[in-house]
Amino acid sequence: MRDFPLFPDQASTVATQVDQLYFFLVALSLIFAGVLPFVILYLIVRYHRSQEVDRSNPVNSNLKLELTWTIIPLILVMLVFFWGAFLYVQIRTPPMRTLDVYVIGKQWMWHVQHPNGKRENNELHVPIGQPVKLIMTSQDVIHSFYIPAFRVKQDVLPGRYTVMWFQATKPGEYHLFCAEYCGTEHSLMIGRVVALPLADYERWLATPGPVILPDGSIDTGRPTVVASPGDPMAAAGAQLFTNLGCAGCHAMAGGGVGPSLKGLYGATEKLNDGSTVTADENYLHESILNPNAKIVAGYAPVMPSYQGQISEDQLNQLIAYIKSLADTGN
Ligand code: CUA
Repeated sequence: MRDFPLFPDQASTVATQVDQLYFFLVALSLIFAGVLPFVILYLIVRYHRSQEVDRSNPVNSNLKLELTWTIIPLILVMLVFFWGAFLYVQIRTPPMRTLDVYVIGKQWMWHVQHPNGKRENNELHVPIGQPVKLIMTSQDVIHSFYIPAFRVKQDVLPGRYTVMWFQATKPGEYHLFCAEYCGTEHSLMIGRVVALPLADYERWLATPGPVILPDGSIDTGRPTVVASPGDPMAAAGAQLFTNLGCAGCHAMAGGGVGPSLKGLYGATEKLNDGSTVTADENYLHESILNPNAKIVAGYAPVMPSYQGQISEDQLNQLIAYIKSLADTGN
């Protein structure tokens, strides 16, 4: 039974609450499904035409009875609705400061990169007691990142980012599944999540060896809560930014053909059609692949598309770089 438990571990901050709601729904269903058939059966037998019962004065309406069977179910479904909505909002809203990890799904594996540049496949190491945010995209078809022990699941889509967050509470190894049928080897698109105490996570992040930054300094592999230009992922993005010639238009000091990217991440941008947009990961992703979708007010739609020219991996690095230019991190 150890490898096939009836119920997954409760290993995240939301696990207990999700289970309470689940058990409440099961209990409610059992009560209705378990009791009502017997009541119906009793009435069928009791009032069968072969039975001698008084039929002289049939009841046509009973206000009290009707109110009872209307109001009690109403209270129950409203309870389920608000309980579920409250929990959903909590699970879908990441806290302001998170440890950001980039995930790419592809047929048929999970590819993970940490802010310090460390990569892993079909494994995800996370510290316990820290909010972790996964910024996820797919290189091909729709996948779904599912960690039953954390009670979190999120579709991973090509062409955009989806975000999922959790906070692990218990050290251990947990199942990681792809929960969206994605082709022949969908069932093999599995892995494990390793939750470690923070000190062990830092040690893991720092192995197999220190990462050498482009300027020659050594990164110790400490988890970076706020993206900084020193992160190897952001540094790789900065290199790409130079190689692709982005700085030709996006001068950091402003005044270029395109807007400056300094302080852009998380800011509210005014667009030329009068609407506004928050410069989050998805906006940046879209603006690199399909620059004309949203034009910042005061600029011309002159940026070429980079669709097909850079990989999702490189996009993640560019976005890590742009995030590192923000005045306030996330
Ligand atoms: Cu990826 Cu199923």
